[in-house]
Amino acid sequence: MPSLTDQVVIITGASSGIGEAAARRLARGGARLVLSARRGDRLEALARELDPSGARVLAVAGDVTSEADRQKLVGTAQEKFGRIDALVNNAGYGTRGPVERVPVELIRRNFETNLFSLIALTQLVIPVMRDQRPDPARRGNRGRIINIGSVAGRISRPLSSVYDSTKHALEAITDGLRGELKVFGLDVVLIRPGLISTEFVQSADHASETVMAGTGPYAPYFENYHRGFGRLEPFIGTGDDIARLVERALTAARPRSHYAAPAHAKLFLLLKWLLPVRAIDYLVRLRKA
Ligand SMILES: NC(=O)c1ccc[n+]([C@@H]2O[C@H](COP(=O)([O-])OP(=O)(O)OC[C@H]3O[C@@H](n4cnc5c(N)ncnc54)[C@H](OP(=O)(O)O)[C@@H]3O)[C@@H](O)[C@H]2O)c1
Repeated sequence: MPSLTDQVVIITGASSGIGEAAARRLARGGARLVLSARRGDRLEALARELDPSGARVLAVAGDVTSEADRQKLVGTAQEKFGRIDALVNNAGYGTRGPVERVPVELIRRNFETNLFSLIALTQLVIPVMRDQRPDPARRGNRGRIINIGSVAGRISRPLSSVYDSTKHALEAITDGLRGELKVFGLDVVLIRPGLISTEFVQSADHASETVMAGTGPYAPYFENYHRGFGRLEPFIGTGDDIARLVERALTAARPRSHYAAPAHAKLFLLLKWLLPVRAIDYLVRLRKA
């Protein structure tokens, strides 16, 4: 089984949540990391905590939606370490609200971060991976791209379908890319987290402030939707539940195409596979407060 030791891994969205947990776990396993997110102070503090010497963990602050920042991220990884073994595409956020009420500009912005920028960053990394020497410890594998999708990429929910559609699109890109890159010895993996305790809810609320202030006839349903998160509390997973899957995908001789965690995520995916659309619609239906 290939080891994490000295693998060079770029992680986007490493300033909190799943990305931060992945950074902690991969650093413990001996990987060399290039961490990215907009909040440079948090990123820098994490990098120095994980590696006070600054030789193995780099913080490269930047916005994934900026072309210049994406180039800086990939350029720094190459300059410092001379190769990129893995890219963990994790940066992302959610937008809430009824489709009728979410301005198209906010929908575009969500796709820009969760999908288009992820694709653009991946486009920069593919040639680097393809042109580098294969790693004999990993059966000649030249690199791995790990996309953080969501159970929401398989099950779309009322009042969340803007975000859910970004993750549905990510499913399609990931599946196509897997076939395209296989021929060059690159693996592509999709990880589907269920509900995970991170800053995701706060950041989605923040991104959707204006929408949530004016949900009009949807208001009573919206209140209940928010309460729904509270009801799910006992089942929520941790960032490390997903970090563990990232580690598994990076160390498996042949990684699976898809991983999911925690247990409720696997259950929802199974139900989606088993049940007719009508039953899924019933499970995610809107209810008044
Ligand atoms: N939490 C869940 O229940 C859950 C479930 C399924 C999937 N996911 C997915 O998991 C991923 C990580 O989310 P999380 O739950 O860990 O939430 P989080 O704690 O809010 O972390 C999101 C990360 O993305 C970064 N980010 C957001 N926009 C960015 C931008 N424009 N440029 C660069 N970095 C950006 C944030 O950093 P800065 O703000 O510092 O830039 C932060 O580090 C997301 O793709 C999310 O869709 C989460």
